[in-house]
Formats: sequence, C-alpha cells, structure tokens
Amino acid sequence: MCKIINSSRNMDVISIKDFSKKKIENFLVESEKMFEYLKNNTVPKVMQDKILGTLFFEPSTRTRLSFTSAMYKLGGQVLGFGSTESSSISKGENLTDTIKVVENYCDLFTIRHPEEGAARYIADITDKPVINCGDGGNQHPTQTILDLYSIQKLKGKIEGLNVALLGDLKHARVMKSLASALCMFKANLRLISPVGLEIGPNTLNDLKKFNTDIFETNNIKEGLKNVDVIYVCRIQKERFDDVYDAQRLQREFRLKLDHLTNINKDLIILHALPKITEISPEIDNTPYAKYFEQVYYGIPVRMAILNMVVE
Ligand code: CP
Repeated sequence: MCKIINSSRNMDVISIKDFSKKKIENFLVESEKMFEYLKNNTVPKVMQDKILGTLFFEPSTRTRLSFTSAMYKLGGQVLGFGSTESSSISKGENLTDTIKVVENYCDLFTIRHPEEGAARYIADITDKPVINCGDGGNQHPTQTILDLYSIQKLKGKIEGLNVALLGDLKHARVMKSLASALCMFKANLRLISPVGLEIGPNTLNDLKKFNTDIFETNNIKEGLKNVDVIYVCRIQKERFDDVYDAQRLQREFRLKLDHLTNINKDLIILHALPKITEISPEIDNTPYAKYFEQVYYGIPVRMAILNMVVE
C-alpha cells in the first residue's frame, strides 16, 4: 500500500516495500505513457504551478538531474541544493528545521540522505509529498521503478526471468530495493557478491517469502549460468570502515568479457551507475550493455512518479 499521510494530500515514495505489485504496475504503465509523450513531443504541462525541492545531502548525478529534467519537461520548476556544504546545515542547522523552512518554498520534496530512515522521518514531519532518492544503505525506490521499467522494456517481461544481482549486495540500496521488487514480480534471483558483502540474512529471509528461486554465490562464473539479466553495482567504498579493503575488492571483483562466454545471447547488462571498475570497459561496446539506455528511461519514469505523487 502507498503511504497516505492525510486524506487531503498525496502519497510519499519512501520504500518499494510500501507499494503493492498493482501500484508498481501502475507506475510502469504511467512511465510508458510519459515515454510516448516524450517521443511525440506532446508532454502535458501538468506541473506548471508546482515547485520541486531537491534536497541532496549526498552526491548524485542521475537521480537529482533526471528529477530536475523530468520536472522541467512537465512544466514545473525546481529549487534546492546538491550537497550539505551549500546549505545552512553546514552552519549547524538541523534536519527538522531545514525541512520546516524549505516546505514553505516548494510543493514536494526529493530527498537523498546518508542515514537510513531519513526519508521516512522527513515524510513524518512535513505535509508535503516526499520522494526518497536514497537513504543510506536502505532504499532507492525510484531507481527500482526505473530498473523494472528497463527490464520490461528490454526483455518484454519480468516474471520468470533469471536475474543476477552482482556486486556489493551488503551496502547497495539499489540492490536491496530491486531484489524485493523482482521477487514480487516472480523473477528468479542469482545473488553474486564478494565474501562478506552478501545481501544479509534479514533481507534474504524477506526475499524468500515470495517463493521464487534464489541462489547465492561468491563465484561470478557460477552465478551467471543461464541468466537473462545481469545487474551490476559498484563496491560502495564510502560505506566501508576499511577503504583499502574496498579498493582491493574494486580490483578483484569485476565482470569481465570472458565471463560472457556461453551466455544467453539475449542477455542484457544493467547498472544504476556510476560505474567505477566493476565492469571491464570492453563490455561497454557489446550488444549486452544497456546501462546508457537505462539512464534515458529515468526521465519518463520520474515524470510518471512526479505526476502520480501530486495527482
Ligand atoms: N543511479 C543513481 O542513483 O545515480 P546517482 O547517485 O548519480 O544519482
């Protein structure tokens, strides 16, 4: 169920787990409509009287800029900041006061924050709709909707696909959000991570409730047998206690061209980006690499989310 804070206003997008499968399917249908509007240059200016606040307390390129672009395309306007240093948080102002101030300037929020649960906290203290653009290692629900849309668009379906999630599954919020959604859509998971960066028993137990086929391994070659989609994420260096350990894994745990011998020829490779060293650069030039196409889908998907949140 989507979370409605009071009946006179809108929904928040905090965790993919707050939404039913039906609701997520609605997001995908609306995203496709936006894709067609963009293609035909017929985008309705439904945000003409709206201002989006983008409060990013952690770095971002795609999420912040694609929401900004989506808002402009819908006729709306955007204000905000892209780092703590450029706001009065750097002078010591707290998060609650910041939100109580900025809610006077905008109609809805997109928030990224390093602390897990920050977006939920903000949604509880403001009546304006809140879209979580990443809270620590917890959730990145709009990326998940974009990922589902990309898989559906490129493979024609989600149900029954064998999807490998490869990389730092312990820290990557993108992977945790996506893993739950894929299980909800009855995809089978291959969870491939370095030793010590597994998705973790709590998340794994949640995933098993969906009764899909889930296989965990630390061996890339073994995990990639008979997969339809490989979704790669980077080693989340900023969430490591030991930066040298992160750098070692960045060197050692990589998807290489020779992993792609004997694979399904319709395979697609996705990545939320930014990618650092986890995909060998030669793979960018193969027909399997779809991550830059995936980036484009961020625009219609985020247009649909904005529209549905304020509707
Ligand atoms: N995919 C993603 O969240 O990218 P950014 O960190 O650049 O927003």
